[in-house]
Formats: sequence, structure tokens, C-alpha cells
Amino acid sequence: MKKPALSIIILLISFITANAQNSAISSSIENVEFKVDSVLAKMTLEEKVGQLVQYNGSWDLTGPASELGSKQKENNLKKGLVGSMLNVLSVEATREAQKLIMDNSRMKIPLIFGYDVIHGYKTIFPVPLGETASWDLEAMELSARIAAIESVAEGINWTFSPMIDVSRDARWGRIMEGSGEDPYLTSVVGVAKIKGYQGDDLSDQLTIAATAKHFAGYGFAEAGRDYNTVNLGENELHNSVLPPFKAAAEAGVATFMNSFNEIDGIPSTGNKYLQRDILKEDWDWKGFIVSDWGSIPEMINHGIAKDKKQASQIAINAGSDMDMEGGAYESSLAELVNEGIVDLAVVDDAVKRVLRVKFKLGLFDDPYKYADPAVKKNISYEDHRKTARTIAAKSIVLLKNEKDLLPIKASVKSIAVIGPLANDKDAPIGNWRAQGEANSAVSVVEGIKIAVGKDTKVKYALGATLGISERSFLLPLEINKTDRSGFKEAIELAKNSELVVMVLGEDAFQAGEGRSQAKISLAGLQQELLEEIKKVNNNIVLVLINGRPLEISWASENIPAIVVAWQLGTESGNAIADVLFGKYNPSGKLPVSFPRLVGQEPLYYNQKNTGRPSNDQHVTYSHYTDVKKDALYPFGYGLSYAQFEYGSLSLSGTEMNSEKEIEATITITNAGKVKGREVVQLYLQDIVGSTTRPVKELKGFQLVDLAPGEAKTITFTITPKMLEFYTANKIWEVEAGDFNVFVGGNSRDLKSAEFTFKN
Ligand code: NOJ
Repeated sequence: MKKPALSIIILLISFITANAQNSAISSSIENVEFKVDSVLAKMTLEEKVGQLVQYNGSWDLTGPASELGSKQKENNLKKGLVGSMLNVLSVEATREAQKLIMDNSRMKIPLIFGYDVIHGYKTIFPVPLGETASWDLEAMELSARIAAIESVAEGINWTFSPMIDVSRDARWGRIMEGSGEDPYLTSVVGVAKIKGYQGDDLSDQLTIAATAKHFAGYGFAEAGRDYNTVNLGENELHNSVLPPFKAAAEAGVATFMNSFNEIDGIPSTGNKYLQRDILKEDWDWKGFIVSDWGSIPEMINHGIAKDKKQASQIAINAGSDMDMEGGAYESSLAELVNEGIVDLAVVDDAVKRVLRVKFKLGLFDDPYKYADPAVKKNISYEDHRKTARTIAAKSIVLLKNEKDLLPIKASVKSIAVIGPLANDKDAPIGNWRAQGEANSAVSVVEGIKIAVGKDTKVKYALGATLGISERSFLLPLEINKTDRSGFKEAIELAKNSELVVMVLGEDAFQAGEGRSQAKISLAGLQQELLEEIKKVNNNIVLVLINGRPLEISWASENIPAIVVAWQLGTESGNAIADVLFGKYNPSGKLPVSFPRLVGQEPLYYNQKNTGRPSNDQHVTYSHYTDVKKDALYPFGYGLSYAQFEYGSLSLSGTEMNSEKEIEATITITNAGKVKGREVVQLYLQDIVGSTTRPVKELKGFQLVDLAPGEAKTITFTITPKMLEFYTANKIWEVEAGDFNVFVGGNSRDLKSAEFTFKN
């Protein structure tokens, strides 16, 4: 037998020693804080800074790559001067990178591997905005659970999700990545996602660390333009933007990511008030904050730092713990400490936060824990797809259904499926698709063909392409505005079919990071195509594939049935067919307002009254003279094939105080012919406050399943906590006074009652 090479023996010895050292640390010391301190005590300044450095490992770039070449990165890994990597995918690749640290570095502190697992890893679920439309928290937790397992199967132990930026602007490309315009809904969805990713025990091999992002105000970019300036008053910041982050911190989210934007002159990355005073002190949160990609050196562009060194100083003092691919900390943080400009204690605190998460993940016990090939072998991707189909169906929102076009009757003899997205297998995968394969979704044509009976003919016509089909994360879509060569065939087909299903909307990469749009109407020739088809066939079901609210006023007036199908992921076409044919009765509700015209944006239901809310006689009140001021389809809106009738709203009392809760009770009856699910929503309005208050705010909801003819009485308990807001005293408290209670199936059509809160 050949003797093993010396280098292999050395490697093995250092590996065994490394593990012995690490397990010695982890098994002999009970308490994580003690473990963290004992590791920190042994570290040099350079090693400490290393823990705050994150390198990109592949080419899924979302910003300029660092200047370091890969050889130098490898050397720095070997020296233990890197704490984390992102975009290193596969068990083999993460194992290899981890080995560089474990085999060569002095302290052998394992890397943590991050990735944007936003709506699934391989099995793709609806984009978050779409999934939120299900209002089904258990479903959302489950999809996160599945995404976590599929991530671990590829060596990932940290996702940069959930994005819990409240956003009221359909122009903002990243609206697809969050939960829409409401702080409460965003909070509960964020918590469900965190539970799904992290489970009850971060050290479980099948759970991963989550990230609450982007802290904060990123969804409030002026004019909906990504990365743009944010001007956000303190009252709005506390009442509308921070609540989901507070909920995430309380739910034990392992990490936060800060944001690219400035707020009122201070970039979030350099914002001490947000990161230190609020998150780390007031909320007493112990995890670490990663910067967004290069957001530390971007403070030079913001014009608040003259160079990387000053940017590092500002960022670390403000509480940004880890530098994502910015190259700022690694080039200047040690120097800043040595020169006495940055306090070592500040660096120590950041390092402790990073180590704490690594200990909790169990990486000191086994640095290769999340690089275990057995995980993948045990996954049934087929089962994951089944779940993806159910969740996708739950996410669909029915906006209009005249002439009872839906569900499609078995007696329909011919269906024309028309439009650029009708047979598109890529758009439904959406942006932020992790390792969801291009062109891997079930298309609408495919879904319908599988679902129909043998007596129904299904034919497809493209009509017109949406754009040049070069689909790259790096390139904007080139919209087709001229090629009508497919119109004739599509019109002919529509003319000769009993029913038309038009599938229009957005390409996968029309929404997402850097994909803000000044127009949100149906892009390219889609509107024209729809109008031409309408001239020859009135029986049209419009299915929208979209990552943001679209401007669909014409369709809303002229097309009898409209379905919002978002970008539903892998099982899109099957889920859409489930709804179109009534196998699943739609139960989704909009998490964001659909405007009449883009000029209404930002548009949201929980707005303030203003001093001039309405006036029938005069123009000098808050409105537009050319379009109604309210939403075309409001927040919380969505129809069912069942018909829900709400009885009157009754309260258990009309007076409340800090010791006494009130119960709001309402009966809902299914007056339709099929069973269905209604999302019953509770809103409150604080009529007079020390600061102005929204006209209503969502405070709770319940999913209610009802058989035909069945009635159920629903009770919401209104607690003093629900009445609290960030008052003129700059604290969260309840103020005495009168409140309106509203309950209903959307934010516009509501039953109401009143009560008084007394101190
Ligand atoms: C930039 C995005 O803003 C952030 O959400 C993402 O997690 C990072 N890039 C990493 O890809």
C-alpha cells in the first residue's frame, strides 16, 4: 500500500486538532456568552476584524464585486480573516471554503454561508408579495421551512430573508419581495417566515439563520425609485416602518441587514439612532447586523464619508457589524482601532454578535454540519412541489367575476389561451429565484391542458411577445412595442373559441432589485392585444402574472373576469388551473392597493384623513381632479366563488381600560353554492390622538372556512396593546378617547362600531 502524502497527514492532524479544539470549547462551557467571551479573548485585532468581513463567493452579484482577486481572497480565508461568505453554493463548495479556514487558520472560527433564499431555494414558491395574499401564516411558515431544508442541502445556513420593508409604492421594483403596505400584516408574515427558517432551535441541522431586512425605510424610496432618498418623519418611522422589525427582533431573528437608503440625511448603514439606540439598546437585540452589499463604501457616494476608512468609522460606530463585500472593514478597521479612532470595545461587541450566531447555529461543534450530503438524499422534491402548488393556489386573488365566467364550466367546448405569458415557463419563477431553474415553471397552457376534460379543446396563441426573451439578472428587459405579427392568429383563435384566457403581466425580471418602473400599465403591446381580442370575444378571463400592483383600469371596466396570479413559482400553471376550474376556491386578498392610475402612487389604505378629506361643493380638498382618489381594488380585497354575507358588528361593551378588553363579534354566512374560505379582517381607528392617526389600521384577521349555507360567529378580542401607537410623548402608549372598530372582507367594505378607552 502506498503511504499517504505528508501534506494529507498534516491536513488530517490539523483537522482533528481543529475539531478537538472546537468541541472542547463547545462542550466544556455551558453558556453561549461564556463561550463567546472565551473565543474573543484569544483573538488578535486582525482576526476580530476578519469576523466582520463577508466575501462574495460566486457571481450572483447584486453590486460591484470587491477589488480583491480570488487568490487573495483564498489567502485571507486561510489566515482566518473572513467571517462569512455569500453565494457559495453546494455542499462541496461550502465544505471546501470551510476547510480553508479549519485547516489553516489559527483560531479556526467557522464561516457562516449566506444566500438570498427569498421564495424557495430549488422549489420556488410565490414571490413574497403574492404569498402574503394567502394571509395563511401556517402556509408561509411551511414554505420557509422547506426553503431552509433545501438550502441546507446545498450548504447554506443563513438566508437574507424575510424582507419586511413596508412599501406603498407599486413603482418600486422590490415591492414583490415584501408583504405590501401594511405594518401589521408585514409583521406577522415576517414572524411566520422567521419561525419557518429558524425553527425552535437554530442548532438543528435543518434550520437556518434568518435576516430581517432592510433596516430601515428602504420601501419608502422617493418616487418608488430603488436606492433613492427617503424622507421619513419620526412619527411615520415608528408607527409604520419599525413595527415589523420590532416583531422580528422579538421573534429572535438571528441577523438584521441594513439598507442602501438614507433617511433624512443619514444613510441607514451609518445610522446610529436606528442600529444602536433603537435595535440594540431599546429592543435589546443580541444578533448581528450585516451591511447591504457594499453599503459601507457607498457612504462615499452618499457624500457622508470621504473614503473607505471614514466610511468604516461611521458604520462600525453606528452599529453595522459585518461588511458585505464592501472591502471597507478589512482595509481600514484595524488601523482605525490602532490609531485610537475607533474604540476596540466597539469592534469586540460586533465580533461577539457574530460569534454568538455561529455558536447558536452549532458551527463550533461541527463546522461541516450544514455541508452534509445526506440532507439532499432525504429530500422529496416531489412533496415540496405538492406543497408549492397548494400555497400558490391560496395566493391567487380573484378581482372580478361577472357573468359567472369562473369557475370554467365542464361544458365549455373550446378555450383559447392567449398572451405573451400564457405559455411562459419562466415569468412565474420571478426574481430572486435562488436556484430555481430558468423556464422550469408549469405554464398556464400546460396547467389548463392537464385540468380540462376530454371534451374541451385548448389552443394557444402568443399574440405578441412581451419583450426580447434574453433573461438575465443583469439586463433590463427590452419591451416589444412594435412586433404585432402574432396578432392575427390570436384574434382568429379568440373568434373561434367559446372562452378566452388571456395571460398578461410582467416578465420575471420586471420586478425586483433595481427594477423600478415609472409605468405600471401592461407593458408593450399587451393592452392593445387585449383590446383587439375583446372586439371578437366577450368571454375573457384575464390572468395576471405580476410582481407588483398593475394599472388595470381599462380591464377592470371591460373584462368580465380578472385573476391576480402574481409570480407563483414552480407550480404556477397547475395552481392557476386549480382556481380557474374551481378545484380550489380562491381565498386570496390583496396585501397592497391596486391604483386606478400610477399617478396615485404611493397609495395605501391606512392613510391620514388630512384637514380636507372631502367636499362635494368645491375643489379645494384632498383629491385629484382627473381620477378618483381611492384604490381601484383596495387592500384586503379578493372575491370567492362562494358568497360571504356579514351580519352586524356587536361589541361586548362600549368602554375599555387597561384592565378590560372588548370582544367584537360578527356572524358570517356563506350564501353561495360552494364551500369557501374568507379572510375576516379587523381594523381600528383612533379618532383623536396627540398626533394624527390613520383612517384605519389592520389589527387582526381570521381565516374562516364555510360550507354552503353555513354561518359562523367570529370573535376578535380587542386588547389595550392594539390601541397603542408612537405618541407625541415619543413612546408607545394608549391614549384615552374614542375608537372605531371595523370588521369585513376588505379594507373598504366594513361593518363598524365604536367604543371609548378610559385611563
Ligand atoms: C443587495 C440586496 O439589497 C439585498 O437584499 C441582498 O440580500 C444582497 N444584495 C445580497 O445579495
